[in-house]
Amino acid sequence: ATIHDQKLHRGAGGELHQFAEDGMPVLTTAQGGPVSDDQNTLRLGARGPALIDDFHFREKIFHFDHERIPERVVHARGYGAHGYFETYESLAAYTRADLFQRPGEKTPAFVRFSTVAGSKGSFDLARDVRGFAVKIYTQQGNWDLVGNNIPVFFIQDAIKFPDVIHSVKPEPDRQFPQAQSAHDNFWDFITLTPESMHMIMWVMSDRAIPRSFRFMEGFGVHTFRFVNAADESTFVKFHWKPKLGLQSVAWNEAVKINGADPDFHRRDLWQAIQSGNFPEWELCVQLFDQDFADTFDFDILDPTKLIPEEILPVKPIGRLVLDRMPDNFFAETEQVAFMTQNVPPGIDFSNDPLLQGRNFSYLDTQLKRLGGPNFTHLPINAPKCPFHNFQQDGHMAMRNPVGRVNYQPNSWNQGPRESPVQGYRHFPAEEQGPKVRLRPESFADHYSQARQFYISQTPPEQRHIAAALIFELSKVETPVIRERMVSHLSNIDETLASKVGHALGFKSMPKPADAAMPTRQDLEPSPALSIVEQ
Ligand code: HEM
Repeated sequence: ATIHDQKLHRGAGGELHQFAEDGMPVLTTAQGGPVSDDQNTLRLGARGPALIDDFHFREKIFHFDHERIPERVVHARGYGAHGYFETYESLAAYTRADLFQRPGEKTPAFVRFSTVAGSKGSFDLARDVRGFAVKIYTQQGNWDLVGNNIPVFFIQDAIKFPDVIHSVKPEPDRQFPQAQSAHDNFWDFITLTPESMHMIMWVMSDRAIPRSFRFMEGFGVHTFRFVNAADESTFVKFHWKPKLGLQSVAWNEAVKINGADPDFHRRDLWQAIQSGNFPEWELCVQLFDQDFADTFDFDILDPTKLIPEEILPVKPIGRLVLDRMPDNFFAETEQVAFMTQNVPPGIDFSNDPLLQGRNFSYLDTQLKRLGGPNFTHLPINAPKCPFHNFQQDGHMAMRNPVGRVNYQPNSWNQGPRESPVQGYRHFPAEEQGPKVRLRPESFADHYSQARQFYISQTPPEQRHIAAALIFELSKVETPVIRERMVSHLSNIDETLASKVGHALGFKSMPKPADAAMPTRQDLEPSPALSIVEQ
């Protein structure tokens, strides 16, 4: 065929559309060059060596070789969907955040659900915390509410995050177990970190094996602030309540599903949305002030504590509907970059030491994972409101300033300009005190809410918690670690402790853990411990 035989068409802009012999668009290289043969490399004779002139082969393989980016260091396995957030009523009295001003207004959103510990290719029904990360593209910039399906966290201070995550991930020498918490390193860390006891009770409960993403709650975990136009602050805790209610699977079901269909949760969300069965959550808030916070014997800055809904009922303020799957998993779900520090004017942080650490960590991790400072240029991360700044250059820059001006103030009368009125104002909280590394006394009680959670469960749910503890601890090979866990359980519920101790073969019960337990202990079993199999 000669060039004259090809079907050519010029578009409105003069661009050349080329069609292959069967009418499909012509395959091109990334540089736009049309490809004649995508099946055979260029060779010297049909049976001869390959030639380096084959730029099409080299470009195709080069691009394939670079397809992978690092998986997330946590929450590697995730699944996302698009949708919108709809505001129920004006919250102007509490917050000046634009998305909460006008009843009925819809704001686009993207959500990524995830497991925490497993790698990208792990199974969906692991006993694990589920991430519930929401990006709302507001008219004042993106708001990321990066939450979990459990309302509290393992640790009180972000400085411990690398330790808790290292302990739950596969052990560094043997590189197992994958995607589960049933191993010595995890329980070693947990039992040396009594502040994790409340979260552990949730993780051992049915909450950690949800039936699907559509039947999960979500929580912002930390105390945040709403700030209104008069710069008045109200503390706020965020909750997502699924319209379908809360459902989990039983452990034996989870084990079977993991084997039969490791993509169970993905498939469920895909099928629901593709068939028009759009899942919904209500965004609910607990609103309170400092005087109310002072009535508790725990600290509202402590992320291992929740405010019981019986004491402070949640108020629904809007709904989230997921109605569209991504066109491309990598472009959207894999490249989406959530960051707790993304807040619009009217939403602010508290001094929760876990939140403060997260506000540093997420930007740092996105730079590494997405390869440079321009990840906000990706469509999934870009704001959907007008935005203007003088940031320029760097790898993959797609939005450099146009014209002469790339700084401000300037004499050329060119914007953008800062605005003390429209711009983000941090709540001017009064702070003072010595510079110290010190856990506040108000963070000291690690057992009351763990107990409260356990006794709030129905008898079958309590049995599931006991069975989960027995299963998980039976995988722990080091006797003193099992003993330490049972000694913590004694501080939570005596019956639960003795049930677990008995099933693990203890002849006598270890004494209850010291609530002010030092975090470093030697690994010698206490004299009280005796184990049948020894
Ligand atoms: C990722 C939640 C604590 C560092 C995530 C994701 C969620 C999440 C949902 C996945 C986001 C996605 O789907 O892309 C939480 C919650 C926490 C918590 C609810 C406590 C209340 C922390 C802390 C740190 C941390 C204390 C570090 C100091 C990270 C990192 C990622 C991540 C590095 C990976 C982000 C990425 O590569 O995209 N977290 N997290 N998280 N989190 Fe957290």
